[in-house]
Parts: sequence; C-alpha cells; structure tokens
Amino acid sequence: MHDYLKGLFPKRGPPARATPAPAPPAERQVAPPRGVAADVAADVAAMREQMKRLLPPEDLHDAAAWDTYWSYQIQDGWGAALCDFFCEDEQMIATLRKNGLRTVLCVGSGLSLEPRRLTAAGFDVTALDLSPFALGLVERYCALHPPSPRLVVGDLTDPAVCPGPYDVIIERRTLQLFADSDPAPAMHAVANRLARRGIFFSHSHDGHTRPPATPQHWTRPWFEENGWDIWWGAPGTLRERAAWLLLSTG
Ligand SMILES: C[S@@+](CC[C@H](N)C(=O)[O-])C[C@H]1O[C@@H](n2cnc3c(N)ncnc32)[C@H](O)[C@@H]1O
Repeated sequence: MHDYLKGLFPKRGPPARATPAPAPPAERQVAPPRGVAADVAADVAAMREQMKRLLPPEDLHDAAAWDTYWSYQIQDGWGAALCDFFCEDEQMIATLRKNGLRTVLCVGSGLSLEPRRLTAAGFDVTALDLSPFALGLVERYCALHPPSPRLVVGDLTDPAVCPGPYDVIIERRTLQLFADSDPAPAMHAVANRLARRGIFFSHSHDGHTRPPATPQHWTRPWFEENGWDIWWGAPGTLRERAAWLLLSTG
C-alpha cells in the first residue's frame, strides 16, 4: 500500500498491549447468535474490500488500472472529493503573474479542475494524465463549463509526450507514488519539461503520519540531492529554477 493512503484505512485490530487484557468473568461471556456474528464478519470483510478500491494501482504505467481506480472513486461516491483539496489557486495565480510565467503543465491531474481554473485566469495550460477515463470526465465538465485546458492522455515518463518547455509544472499527489521505488526517472522526466527559468510545484500528501512523528514530503529528497532552490510552502523570488514544495497531512 502506498504510505500516504494508510491513514484512510481503519486500523487492523486493537493496539498492541504490554500485557494481555484479563478475560471477562465466565458468566459475562455471552456468545452472540451465530447469524449476527456471521453478518458482522461479512460486513467487515466487504468494507475492507471496498476500501481497497481506493488504492492506486501497483503498476503506475497501467492506464486501464487507473481508469478502474477513478471509476471506483466515482461509483463509491468519492467523486472528485479528494481532488483539489489544499489547492491555493489564488496564491499560485499571483505568483505566476508576479514572475511573468505563462505556460503551465499539470502532470497526473486526474479529475482535478485546477487546470481549468488556471486556464480561466489566462494561463496557457496543459493537463497530462494516463487515464482516458479521468480526462474524459474533465473534458465533459469543461465542455459544459468552459474554458477547457488542453487535455493530453499519456505517460509522464515518456519524453515525447508534452515535451515543453513549460514555465510551470504542477504535480499533486502523483510523483510521491513513484517514490515507493526509484523516484529519479519520473522526477527527471518531469523536470526535463521545465524551462530554464521556471517553477516545479510538488505537493505531497502524507495521510499516515501522526504527531509527534514528522510527516514526509516524498519528493523533497530528490530536489535537495539535485541542488534545487527550494521554496517551502510559500512562494519565494524566482531567479532560475525553483522547486515549490507543499506538504499536507490528515
Ligand atoms: C493519486 S492521483 C492524483 C490526482 C490529482 N493530482 C489529485 O491530486 O487529485 C494520481 C494521478 O496520476 C495519474 N498517473 C499515474 N501514473 C501516471 C503516469 N505514468 N503518467 C501520467 N499520469 C499518471 C493517474 O491517472 C492519476 O490521475
């Protein structure tokens, strides 16, 4: 399971105890009627299966699996509920305008309407995602509620797709999935699309870590190792290339 999703799932079993809990007195051990116990077990099993449907596919390059992921999210009533949370488009728009940046690539945008919002603000926006199902829904929505960004179905690791260069690249909750194995090929593939002067915005969501542990920004180590100028959570002053990092939890 991808770590950032673990927080969405019910804990498996009670917390570990130093000593076993004392058994209740024998007279209080009333076995539930067989039918009730079986129903509860079946409900729990069904709920576990249902929750598994929220997991991203293991193979991040499997477009059909991502289509299934998004169609489950819709069927299960999540819809776009998990998209666009923590997006501060006004801050993004102000930063892009202040620095004279115009072209934007949103990678792994899924059902997000952030590309549409930035298009409406006057930027030249392309949304790239592997799932034709997700981008098909965005396309239908934008046809009803223009404007629409340019929508491209393709693999972010394929350099021939949306080669750029773009002034700004925005990814949210996508490149962290690649950090489970070796993030470098995906990070390089995306960074290679950025103009010499531009912003690489990377939003990690860590839904698992709880205080006092420190939540993790999954792509931050790659930016640090590669010597990027890092803006942490808030925009800085753009000289050449900058990585603007956002970490959300909960
Ligand atoms: C966890 S979702 C995040 C969606 C959106 N950014 C958000 O925050 O709601 C990851 C998205 O990345 C897309 N994706 C996964 N692997 C990809 C790849 N290799 N190339 C392009 N898109 C990919 C999926 O289709 C999915 O829409």
